[in-house]
Amino acid sequence: THQWRGIIEEYRDRLPVSDTTPVVTLREGGTPLVPAQVLSERTGCEVHLKVEGANPTGSFKDRGMTMAISKAKEEGAQAVICASTGNTSASAAAYAVRAGMVSAVLVPQGKIALGKMGQALVHGAKILQVDGNFDDCLTLARALSEQYPVALVNSVNPVRIEGQKTAAFEIVDFLGDAPDIHVLPVGNAGNITAYWRGYREYAADAVSTRTPRMWGFQAAGSAPLVRGEVVKDPATIATAIRIGNPASWDYAIQARDESGGFIDEVTDRQILSAYRLLASQEGVFVEPASAASVAGLLKAAEQGKVDPGQRIVCTVTGNGLKDPDWAVAGAPQPLTVPVDATAAAERLGLA
Ligand code: F0G
Repeated sequence: THQWRGIIEEYRDRLPVSDTTPVVTLREGGTPLVPAQVLSERTGCEVHLKVEGANPTGSFKDRGMTMAISKAKEEGAQAVICASTGNTSASAAAYAVRAGMVSAVLVPQGKIALGKMGQALVHGAKILQVDGNFDDCLTLARALSEQYPVALVNSVNPVRIEGQKTAAFEIVDFLGDAPDIHVLPVGNAGNITAYWRGYREYAADAVSTRTPRMWGFQAAGSAPLVRGEVVKDPATIATAIRIGNPASWDYAIQARDESGGFIDEVTDRQILSAYRLLASQEGVFVEPASAASVAGLLKAAEQGKVDPGQRIVCTVTGNGLKDPDWAVAGAPQPLTVPVDATAAAERLGLA
């Protein structure tokens, strides 16, 4: 019997590893590409969801983290550090455990989802809540990695991007060619950089015949790439992408321009509406930030920017269980019944 071996073993010849690199893996990648029926109907296109919440720690970060931690171990690091809005810290903490390393994570105080905090805690990370936003956390993490013996595993570490590009490989391998359009949520802009690299690499080597247009969506209160300037005090309910000064800014603009795509914004209301649609009509439970890609596709469709008949992939980046508050908020309280079939049937509207 065969199981998916993780992105390093599956794509070894396309990653900067050697025979002596210790592979630290939780068998990440190999995530489902799920046809989205309702989104396809609404747009007149063939829409697929790349469900990255199916990764071992529940987000796409694991693709980059298996690379970052393996390379850090190869270089003899005993401790790693990252700034995070939550998912990177959960992933770093888990992979550090596998590698026998200490992990330190810097998170913006009060602005990370409970599930992610729980992951970092249970994996034994040293957590500091910083009195500042993600951008401040990243500045601090960079400074610490320069001054102390601790390896930085944020996406400013180039091997993170290398690992994350494998998601584009999987899509082409599965569909037989690149899609027409690829849609992503954008925060620190590492992932849009990584997908574009992956698509370009496959096209350059003639594994695919073309590259997709890259469409990125930021939350309206945290949309520096749309505004063209740093956002000092970013705001959005999608805490994962609450970032005002993306580290991979120039690469994101390059991905947008080289691919003939665009980067736009979606409101928190549009994000939550897409979040509910995905859960209630596609059966896919994602965290709010992940729904920004789908919210963006729907916005573009309403604006008449989506020609029918195209093949579109939306990456949904993280699992809904990370941040369940939004699922519960505003939903009706379940009714309580006695142990009685008649009463239960009545409440269920069966009788
Ligand atoms: N979606 C989710 C669920 C994320 O956690 C992130 C980033 C993004 C989208 C945006 O990806 O930064 O590559 O543009 N989360 C980082 C973190 C910042 O710390 O977990 P990006």
